[in-house]
Amino acid sequence: MCGIVGYIGTQEAQSILINGLQRLEYRGYDSAGVAIIGDDGLQIKKTKGKVHDLESTIEGAPLQGSVGIGHTRWATHGPPNDVNAHPHDSTGSTFALVHNGIIENYNAIRKKLAEKGYTFQSDTDTEVLVRLIEDVRRATDLPLEEAVRQALTQVVGTYGIAVVSEEDPDLLIAARKGSPLILGIGDGEYFIGSDAAPLVEHTRQVVYLSDGEMVTVRRSGYTVRTIDNVELEKEVHELEWDLSEIQKGGYDHFMLKEIMEQPTALEDCMRGRVLPDQQQITLGGLHQVIDDLRDADRIIIAACGTSWHSGLVGEYLIESMARIPVEVEYASEFRYRNPVLRKGDVVLVISQSGETADTLAAVREARRRGIPCIGICNVVGSTIARETDAGVYLHAGPEIGVASTKAFTAQVTVLTMLALKLAEGRTLSTAEMAHNLQALAAVPDKVREVLAMDEEIEDMANVYRYAANFLYLGRGYNFPVALEGALKLKEISYIHAEGYPAAEMKHGPIALIDRFMPVVFIAMKDSTYDKVVSNIEEVAARDGSVIAITDEGNGELDDLCEYVLRIPKTEEFLTPLLTAIPLQLLSYHIAVMRGCHVDQPRNLAKSVTVE
Ligand code: M6R
Repeated sequence: MCGIVGYIGTQEAQSILINGLQRLEYRGYDSAGVAIIGDDGLQIKKTKGKVHDLESTIEGAPLQGSVGIGHTRWATHGPPNDVNAHPHDSTGSTFALVHNGIIENYNAIRKKLAEKGYTFQSDTDTEVLVRLIEDVRRATDLPLEEAVRQALTQVVGTYGIAVVSEEDPDLLIAARKGSPLILGIGDGEYFIGSDAAPLVEHTRQVVYLSDGEMVTVRRSGYTVRTIDNVELEKEVHELEWDLSEIQKGGYDHFMLKEIMEQPTALEDCMRGRVLPDQQQITLGGLHQVIDDLRDADRIIIAACGTSWHSGLVGEYLIESMARIPVEVEYASEFRYRNPVLRKGDVVLVISQSGETADTLAAVREARRRGIPCIGICNVVGSTIARETDAGVYLHAGPEIGVASTKAFTAQVTVLTMLALKLAEGRTLSTAEMAHNLQALAAVPDKVREVLAMDEEIEDMANVYRYAANFLYLGRGYNFPVALEGALKLKEISYIHAEGYPAAEMKHGPIALIDRFMPVVFIAMKDSTYDKVVSNIEEVAARDGSVIAITDEGNGELDDLCEYVLRIPKTEEFLTPLLTAIPLQLLSYHIAVMRGCHVDQPRNLAKSVTVE
């Protein structure tokens, strides 16, 4: 969702804030703004559009000052326009505030404040919070930080906020509930960010704010207290990110860079964990809970989007290898449908960002009901990683492209390791274990071979770039990959696409088949291959245009399909790690050819921190 950046120190704030906003732009990109306190007081610049539009508005007239805040917006209340863009300032423009989240009771507060004579320029819930802070100050004459704290006790909903004031140019306030915020500690200077991206080039020392916490930062130091006014000692963490990891590194788009990074991402994900010579899997983060997991009556996987798709692969993996029943839930449904949870259940959540509001809500619901909760996250120190009882990091490196790619394959890799670990010494013999580990360790090189087919896939994309609809079909382990292929295409190219288990086609989607509808079949030579070939025949018989992904050396599909992509052979349970990749590349190239903004697709944001 929205991105927040803040700075207080001795350097000019403007370039730090603008640079930080560029790093955060993947969180939201419909408008952007900064507020800086200079010698002449509070200066605000904001505009509809991207951060480079904001840069154009301040070109030639830089904002001077060494304390400030910035925001890149993903609209919730009110359309993207200059007025609704953040920062929002107080009446008389003495302080300014940026906000990520939703103030749910904003209407009631707005009504009360309007009755008191306050006026509002924007449609946002954020401006209501600004007026509320003003109102607290007017009534109590409290210092700004205290007024902010008291105002926050009155709001219902979620927020990550940052505030600066011309009345106190040595003050930067930030607070969070439900929307992430990190404090970066420099030498006589401090930074605020919605995540580590804007901080990493300035400092590695960070404090993760937790929900209900507020930090008051001055050049001389910072104090963290709860919204209930209890002072806290917070641990300082070391960031693991490298600057190069959040740069495009010569690629046109982060998405392509991240697709191409998959061999190393998977190697990093498996490093020290997959030990074929010892016939062992080591998952340090699960050490304390692995017996509970093995003895679980049921594992419930909760996640959203791409992470939900990897969860479906996880269901197939864990059930077939470890014989533990698994259910996969949309995290957004889990909390609200009063799920049956029993002693013996374990909840496993999957989230690249570790900040997805719905997934976090599932964690809290499970823990509230006394159910152990395990997390698979990519972002170290993220809220889900901190709130779960135990977990496994992906170690895939930062994922900036809104369309998730390397996180998907890394999640499937972690789930594969988990399934093998749960099966170790129980349902898998030592010989089977050794064989499976060898096969898993060989996957990154096979991924390299698939990536080498990029040009062939680009040529294919050129043929299908004008299609209005796509169907993706797969079975078994590759049914979730079909869903993921369809999601990738719709997200970044805006082509309507649906994924189905291949055999479901004749229960409805077959009615859609005509020569204008590309149908992508994942047809690996596995236990369901013959059935999938029958489905391909059914589409071909109706003049459908078929693209198939199959094993290298398989020429059987050539007469039935318009395109056949042949990828390296692997074990059936590992095929999703290879079959997902041509689908990522196909979506990428089609989106580029259609002139779509691949890294910042319309209406989407990388990290969905509102419900
Ligand atoms: O950070 P998370 O894995 O929790 O995010 C979940 C979804 O929002 C995410 O996978 C989304 O569907 C992506 N845009 C897919 O490419």
